[in-house]
Amino acid sequence: ADIVVVAPATADLMARMAQGHANDLATAVLLATRAPILIAPAMNPAMWSHAATQRNVRQLERDGAAFIGPNAGEMAEQGEAGVGRMAEVPEIVARIEEMLGANDKGGFGFISVGATRGPRPLLAGRHVLVTSGPTHEPIDPVRYIANRSSGKQGHAIAAAAQRLGARVTLITGPVQIADPEGVTVERVGTAEEMLAAVTAALPADVAVFAAAVADWRVATPGRGKIKKTAGNAPPSLNLVENPDILRAIATRGAGRPALVVGFAAETQTVVGNAQAKLKTKGADWIVANDVSESTGVFGGERNQVHFVSAAGVEPWPAMTKADVADALMQRAAAWLADVREQV
Ligand code: C5P
Repeated sequence: ADIVVVAPATADLMARMAQGHANDLATAVLLATRAPILIAPAMNPAMWSHAATQRNVRQLERDGAAFIGPNAGEMAEQGEAGVGRMAEVPEIVARIEEMLGANDKGGFGFISVGATRGPRPLLAGRHVLVTSGPTHEPIDPVRYIANRSSGKQGHAIAAAAQRLGARVTLITGPVQIADPEGVTVERVGTAEEMLAAVTAALPADVAVFAAAVADWRVATPGRGKIKKTAGNAPPSLNLVENPDILRAIATRGAGRPALVVGFAAETQTVVGNAQAKLKTKGADWIVANDVSESTGVFGGERNQVHFVSAAGVEPWPAMTKADVADALMQRAAAWLADVREQV
């Protein structure tokens, strides 16, 4: 290897590196390599600022390791923020390029890093709007109705559009994942808030509705916490239908995005339901996926989708959510460039 990158680097791994441990594959490689080492720490802010960790960082720097990050921001643990977030991937890639370039000048082995510069900006000058995550529909001030959407697929689509040069607005329900780099992020709670944010963000060239919007909300959420009182029956919740954001945007006359893409998360008759949705929702494309518990799609890294358009149904192979996002945005760019025979 021309460089060894540790991303994310935990406090524990850095402690073991600083001590020269080699009792597992990672530390053995790090001790044995003659290549430069780049460390991207990621940990809880208290662990990062601890004297022991800071001592290890100084030791590793003296030993010749380079560091990138950590950055300040929200942690994976809810409610935690501070210095400890791993540097964003584009920052890490830029530092790798910089370090390999420096090696070239120094006469060490050099590999071409042209491929890391990213794809051509096929969506330059376009506005792509993406919804992502679940919605939270309040029952009372402390309780809400939600679902298992992680936001990973929607966020990956926003990131893919950004990489292709688009201006991207991501409207997301409550999620536990990081904002994609270089994207305008608007956070909402309920379906009604999401619809308002989507409408305000128009016009857009492409709109992708990947959010798992709650179908129903509580008609009149309790103003105060609903109390459990001994001897009384449990309260019943009176539900009313939420606005269908995809249908509202896809069926509007003026200001409809040129390309409207919906998702169909189903547990049965996946393709049949997606084909029906194409018509009832007025979408140009529906990306259908099976979210039965056995598929691990909700919250997982991988997805297996069917791409459904008026032209027919294409089963796509199982791939990461990032790859589904890239493929979808490449298709969107081709559509906008009016290469419709490819669609
Ligand atoms: O009808 P169903 O919920 O299965 O449709 C899924 C598609 O519709 C997704 O693209 C989802 O983002 C969108 N949708 C929406 N607003 C709703 C319900 C679903 O935008 N209220």
